[in-house]
Amino acid sequence: MYINFWYPVALSEELKDEPIRARILGQNFVAFRDSKGQPHTLSDTCPHRGGSLSAGIIRDDCIQCPYHGWRYDGAGYCRRIPSLGKDAKIPKRARVDAYPTQEQNGIVFTFLGDLEEEHRPPIMPVAELEDGKNWRANWLTYEADINFERSIENGLDAGHNEFVHPTHGHEGTDEDYKVNALDYVDNMFGDKKWGFGFWHAFKSPSSKKDSPQIKEASDERMAGSGIVGPNQMWTYIVFGEDSEFRQYMFECPMEQNHVKIFLINMRKMMLDENMDQAIADRCMAIARQDIVILEKLNPVLTPDTNSKEFLVPADEPCIKYRKLLDGWKKKGWKIDSRKVDANIGKKAYAIPSPGRNKQKGWVLDKIPLS
Ligand code: FES
Ligand SMILES: [Fe+2]
Repeated sequence: MYINFWYPVALSEELKDEPIRARILGQNFVAFRDSKGQPHTLSDTCPHRGGSLSAGIIRDDCIQCPYHGWRYDGAGYCRRIPSLGKDAKIPKRARVDAYPTQEQNGIVFTFLGDLEEEHRPPIMPVAELEDGKNWRANWLTYEADINFERSIENGLDAGHNEFVHPTHGHEGTDEDYKVNALDYVDNMFGDKKWGFGFWHAFKSPSSKKDSPQIKEASDERMAGSGIVGPNQMWTYIVFGEDSEFRQYMFECPMEQNHVKIFLINMRKMMLDENMDQAIADRCMAIARQDIVILEKLNPVLTPDTNSKEFLVPADEPCIKYRKLLDGWKKKGWKIDSRKVDANIGKKAYAIPSPGRNKQKGWVLDKIPLS
């Protein structure tokens, strides 16, 4: 799991006038809105004596700890320590990490790391949301006992569709089946250091009988996939000139072996809102086909070296993804989960926030990085 990337906290509609607790990168966070509706995300651990801020209440645009009532504003500064009396001076160290928080695509995202703004990766935009005449959206969230890297690799894996998804292929009965050459493209959503994509032509005859409403010119399909950062992925499936799905996935690694996926499915056909439920059901049915396989992978995490799996040309996108992850690890952004786990129950950590670049002497140690 990596610091210095944007992670989905909640759907915008889920963050109302109560604080919510979010579990991301194996740590707890509190998210809340101030009186202007602006969302904020803070570390959940009160530096006084470890109260869980998300169990508190919102007062004067601050989150108030449920234990002794200390109040923290959206920037993480403590504004009130009731036990010191009314006009007491608040010590500087009484501060929690506050993370840049942004609402986009109907999702609240938080940047968990200490990079300054100009160095941060992008959040994938979903431009189709602005074009309601031609596109319609479904927002779906679901959780599974899967390592998020394994989940992203599955989305970059052209070779699994034929076998895992009966609606995408021949269920292994096509003697002539093979994965065609992949056509690589640079990251579509920002600098190429943050990702890449590829297109893949394939045949999918069975979708004709399962979805007769899809106007299909032929059995030939085009699909594209790509990543932005370790946890954002796009998949476009082109059925025909006017029929297309564009899926945007924002993955939240809650734990090393547990992921929450925020999926925006955009469709260019069947625009009637009466179709929403059927589309959501279809997306979830396909997601479950993947989950059944991915929850049983051994090992749970991707191996430390590629030689511990026998990779073939169709796995090249996974190798490219692993190389990017390795680069982010070399920058010191990978959480040392072994050290964190060794201190469970004994030590509270915080993901370092940009505020740490300007102030020293934080109460909570920053999370161990490898
Ligand atoms: S633990 Fe939060 S105010 Fe005491
Ligand atoms: Fe799949």
